[in-house]
Amino acid sequence: MAKDVIIACDFGSAEETYAFLDRFSGEKPFVKIGMELFYAEGPQIVRGIKERGHRIFLDLKLHDIPNTVKKAMRSLSALDVDLVNLHAAGTRAMMEAALEGLMRPDGTRPLLIAVTQLTSTDQAALENELLIEKPIDEVVIRYARNAAAAGLDGVVCSPLEAGKVHRACSDAFLTVTPGVRFGEGDRGDQKRVTTPALARELGSDYIVVGRPITQADDPVAAYQRCGKEFLG
Ligand code: C5P
Repeated sequence: MAKDVIIACDFGSAEETYAFLDRFSGEKPFVKIGMELFYAEGPQIVRGIKERGHRIFLDLKLHDIPNTVKKAMRSLSALDVDLVNLHAAGTRAMMEAALEGLMRPDGTRPLLIAVTQLTSTDQAALENELLIEKPIDEVVIRYARNAAAAGLDGVVCSPLEAGKVHRACSDAFLTVTPGVRFGEGDRGDQKRVTTPALARELGSDYIVVGRPITQADDPVAAYQRCGKEFLG
């Protein structure tokens, strides 16, 4: 797939989501549906947005035993989403099972990417709570390599890690990167942020942008600005 901007539709209801998407009259942005919206509205919200012609990244970050994840992925694949994810911490066996579950009868499947370490996890939590004593970027790269070895298509990571991930795995291994802000914008709770233009320079394949678009006075203009800066 070509590089693109994915809008994080972090809304609490279908009404709000559709009202937001209605503003985009001429175009069909690639959208991300996360836990908040999916748990509020169920699979129907995925079907509804798909019917409107959008590509969908379903960001549910699965993590369970391989058999359960395989069957859950089968259900998600039947929803005709384009991109789904899981936690690389579930191990290679879980990631391989997930891929099997995603395969549709016609031989197609959604792309599958892995969360390496959440950006909310810091070195102290890694060492003191998870008992992982390696530097966090080494852990991220190792988990990315595990995901690649399991046959996954990429990882979610910071744009700042995109180059390192590409060098460790391959150029074709996707880097899907949140934490994007326009230079002058409010960072919110994101700490390590980059602009769309810098994300492009650093080699991100997809930028995931939420509040800078959803909370903008003119979301369509903000989306177009992201596209212009990221895609050139
Ligand atoms: O509003 P904002 O642009 O910060 O939204 C970023 C989106 O990416 C949110 O939906 C957030 O949950 C998601 N995300 C993230 N960092 C990760 C993984 C996902 O910000 N490591």
